[in-house]
Amino acid sequence: MTARATILPLEVSNLVYEAGGERLLHDVSFRLAAGTRTVVLGPNGAGKSLILRLCHGLLTPTMGEIRWGGDVRADPLRVRRQRAMVFQRPVLLRRSARGNVEHALKLRGVPRRERHALTDLALAQTGLAELGNRPARALSGGEQQRLALARAWATEPQLLFLDEPTANLDPAATRAVETLVDGFHAAGAKIVMTTHDLAQARRMADEILFIHRGRLLEHAPADRFFAAPAMPESRAFVAGELLW
Ligand SMILES: Nc1ncnc2c1ncn2[C@@H]1O[C@H](COP(=O)(O)OP(=O)(O)OP(=O)(O)O)[C@@H](O)[C@H]1O
Ligand SMILES: [Mg+2]
Repeated sequence: MTARATILPLEVSNLVYEAGGERLLHDVSFRLAAGTRTVVLGPNGAGKSLILRLCHGLLTPTMGEIRWGGDVRADPLRVRRQRAMVFQRPVLLRRSARGNVEHALKLRGVPRRERHALTDLALAQTGLAELGNRPARALSGGEQQRLALARAWATEPQLLFLDEPTANLDPAATRAVETLVDGFHAAGAKIVMTTHDLAQARRMADEILFIHRGRLLEHAPADRFFAAPAMPESRAFVAGELLW
C-alpha cells in the first residue's frame, strides 16, 4: 500500500464514550465518504467535540469501532498522518508563525529541505506571508486561526477536522476561515466540521450529522435536512428554538 492510500471512508460503528461515570455518547454509527463537506451540528454540549476527538484519536472509545479506508488493520500512524485537526482556540507553540508550521512538518517526517518551501506556500495561501516571523501568540485571533489552518494544510491531509473553528471570530475573520476551508475542499480534502451555528451550517454543509444529547439523530444531505428535518429535535433546532 502506498503512503497516499486513501483513509476514507471513515466508518464509525456503535461508538460509546463514557467519562466521569456518565455515558456521553450513545451508540453513534455513521459512514463518511470522501469529497463532501460534513457538518456535525447540534446545540452546546451535544457531543460534537467528543465525536471529532474520538475520530482523530485524541480520546479512546469506551465501546465501538472506528475504521479508516475500509481496513480494520490500517496502520494507525499512516492513517494519522493523513488527517489534521483545527480547534476552536488555536493551540500554537511559543515560536514564530513559520516556526509553528515548520515544526508540524518536522513531526510528520518531512525532510528539512522541503519544509521551507511548504511553509512558504501554506503561509501565502492563508494570507500570512508577511507575518511569518512574528511570534505566533502575538497574532490576532483571526490570524492565529488562519495560522492553525496553514499548519494543518501544510501537512497535506486527506481529511481536515475543524472543531468550531470560527466560534471566537468576528464576521470578517469567520468569512476568511470559511473561504480557506472551501479552498481546501476544492483542492480535494474531506472536511468534517462542527458548529452550533445554523447559518454557518447552511453555508458550509453538503451533509449534516445532527447530534443531540449524545445521540446521532439524523444523517442527511444538507438540502434535505434544512428543508425537511425528520426529527422533532432537528425541526426545533432548524426553527431556531432553544435546545439543550
Ligand atoms: N471528560 C469529561 N468528563 C465529563 N463530562 C464530559 C467530559 N468531556 C465532555 N463532557 C461532557 O460531554 C458533553 C458533550 O461535550 P462536547 O464538548 O462534545 O459538546 P459539544 O457538542 O462540542 O458542545 P459545544 O457546542 O458547547 O462545543 C458535555 O455535556 C460535556 O460537559
Ligand atoms: Mg464543542
